[in-house]
Amino acid sequence: MNFQWYPGHMTKAKRQMQEDIKLIDLVIELVDARIPLSSRNPDIDELGKNKYRLILMNKADLADPAESDRWGAFFREKGYYVVQLDARKKNGMKQITDVIMEACKEKIERDRKRGIKNRPVRAMVVGIPNVGKSTFINSYAGKACAKTGNKPGVTKGKQWIRLNKDVELLDTPGILWPKFEDQMVGLRLALIGSIKDEILNTDELALELIKILVQMYPGMLNDRYQVDETKEAVEILYGIADYRKCVAKGGELDYSKAAALLIDEFRSGALGRITLESPQ
Ligand code: G4P
Repeated sequence: MNFQWYPGHMTKAKRQMQEDIKLIDLVIELVDARIPLSSRNPDIDELGKNKYRLILMNKADLADPAESDRWGAFFREKGYYVVQLDARKKNGMKQITDVIMEACKEKIERDRKRGIKNRPVRAMVVGIPNVGKSTFINSYAGKACAKTGNKPGVTKGKQWIRLNKDVELLDTPGILWPKFEDQMVGLRLALIGSIKDEILNTDELALELIKILVQMYPGMLNDRYQVDETKEAVEILYGIADYRKCVAKGGELDYSKAAALLIDEFRSGALGRITLESPQ
């Protein structure tokens, strides 16, 4: 889902989230493991203050594992619980419940001391568009997708998914708006395909990607396309067009085709497991 954010959208999304967050114990925030910081909206820290916090570094299958470990440590240091995830795989879901229980252990203990039994932890999933919120909810909820319906005292229309005896999930995820005022953040969001390609055209995106890869993953472009990485980005793109026989009708090289191919191979993971930003 690609869409543009306007101030009206953001105000509405924020108001909705403020309401929903009142109902829950734990915020499950999805970020894209390839850009763990640029795919966050930092406003969630204010919105989710006083709540338990879990960050799911999703699409970890596409990210650089060493960088993901570094990012995991970075977020844990700041007090979040963190799990690296491929939301399409159902077998990673068991550990999520364990981490949720761990993250909410104080509340569970408090309930127990007050004699409250069987009150499940309530959680909601939040994240910017396309990070995998729906995929995660489907994988996690699985067959348990029985909705518990409206509850007394809960805003009308809110549906809860009872996952197991311990966890209930609000069935609609909270959509955070990406923050792309910072040019580099906007570029990274465009590269993973989460904001419209029109912000930068594919040719420009590919040139920027080449510059990033030469710096962060030296040798990677040469391995795949046999290009000379000491050259200018534009020449490297020519090299890719040549190597992959991207030619236009008249027989000359088609750089736009090469640019699209490069972006595709990056997004699909064919180029390798890549993370576009490192923790400071
Ligand atoms: P959203 O609700 O947050 O907007 O995201 P959604 O679940 O719709 O997921 C967006 C796309 O990301 C989906 O691809 C989904 O399959 C993919 N996806 C979700 N989680 C993961 C993950 O952990 N790893 C990988 N590699 N992909 C994941 P789609 O609908 O097929 O779109 P597209 O692939 O054609 O862009």
